[in-house]
Amino acid sequence: MTRKILIRRGTLVLPDKKTLMDGDILIEGGVITRIEKGILDPQACVIDASGFLVGPGFVNLHVHFREPGGEAKETLETGAKAAARGGFTAVLAMPNTSPPLDNPIIVQALVLKAQRLPFTRILFAGAISRGCQGGEMAEYGLLKEAGVVALSDDGTSVESSRLLYLAFQYAQYFGLPFILHEEDEELSRDGHMHEGTTSFLLGYKGIPRVAEDSRIARDILLALGTGARVHFTHLSTEMSVTLLRLFKGKALLSADVTPHHLLLTAEDVPRLGNLAKVKPPLRERRDIEALKAGIAEGIIDILASDHAPHTLEDKEGSFTDAAFGISNLEVTVPLYVKALVEEGVIDWIELWRKLSYNPAQFLGFEDKGVLAEGKTADITILDPQTEWEVDVAQFESKGKNCPFQGWSLRGWPVYTIVGGRVVMAERRIVDGEFC
Ligand code: DOR
Ligand code: ZN
Repeated sequence: MTRKILIRRGTLVLPDKKTLMDGDILIEGGVITRIEKGILDPQACVIDASGFLVGPGFVNLHVHFREPGGEAKETLETGAKAAARGGFTAVLAMPNTSPPLDNPIIVQALVLKAQRLPFTRILFAGAISRGCQGGEMAEYGLLKEAGVVALSDDGTSVESSRLLYLAFQYAQYFGLPFILHEEDEELSRDGHMHEGTTSFLLGYKGIPRVAEDSRIARDILLALGTGARVHFTHLSTEMSVTLLRLFKGKALLSADVTPHHLLLTAEDVPRLGNLAKVKPPLRERRDIEALKAGIAEGIIDILASDHAPHTLEDKEGSFTDAAFGISNLEVTVPLYVKALVEEGVIDWIELWRKLSYNPAQFLGFEDKGVLAEGKTADITILDPQTEWEVDVAQFESKGKNCPFQGWSLRGWPVYTIVGGRVVMAERRIVDGEFC
């Protein structure tokens, strides 16, 4: 049984109600039992949250934890600790592991292993196609029974329209939503960065915007034609926002971005080198402006990470040989604060909504993304003021491939509470030592 916890004097963020309020929170037996001003309880362990924002734990729809097969890059444990440091009380791990998560036995084993880790709730996406190869459908019913909460072939895009059309219909029997990585690989083949002036000057083959846009256009129409719930992850282009705006409200569509696509462009590639090699590639200013407009309008309703840890060896060597991916789980939230709150694109409440309530709603979790009496105590406390520098040496993640090293940021999560247990305090993992 966990101890009683009293969070005092914080500014509470209620993303479902779109309001802030001053108040205290009492947690007993892993559940929020009271929310009101001036709670006193001499038996409770007190967290002084004055000057901090206190809200429902952040839910991240896109991380890579690399188990099974890629344990040198990340494990469930190191990933879960990184999530806790990042303020995330739930994360969705992508299935492009080795082997990929198309097998219910493996999913079951991972679910059991994840349940034993206290730091965050790790959820799993199952593969859309066997082996994420795009040839035939995976077994959605068995995957759902094993515990997957969504379907994705992330890391690659489903080439066959027919397969995706059938998958969109079939998955509805199991209530599983789709998370789509959109990239026409005939168009992106051999590309290493955004196709434009910088790729031309550096002499690298480029990945054109239309590789993403053409797939999004097709799949919006497939979603419209089948009634499937379809989420487009890591949007990077201006046109992707235009397309989604056109069909907003006409199908069950949603979308997310990553922090790096809002803060870096192709022009940063010469300076950052392999650390800036990522899929989709870093684009241009006008794409960033369009993505921000989409976020402000609510067309992009979810903020995720695409946390993609790699070993140093995988990121070393020539730009053309290096792996795609950025490790960012521990800095995702302050990066969004910089890109969106400090720039006046959205306010704190809307930021919290896109980091908790909206992703929880997408996954159908009534118990998450809401701060209310009777709900499970998954809570994040954030310091909106203090600036700290990004230091990859302090990452819990094995992935040190982060292009934001040395950036001075504010808006860091300072406490993470999962099921009434404090797992991160003052930006450090505290497994059972706190409260
Ligand atoms: O840069 C990326 N890395 N983009 C993806 O879509 C996959 C990811 C990975 O798995 O490393
Ligand atoms: Zn992807």
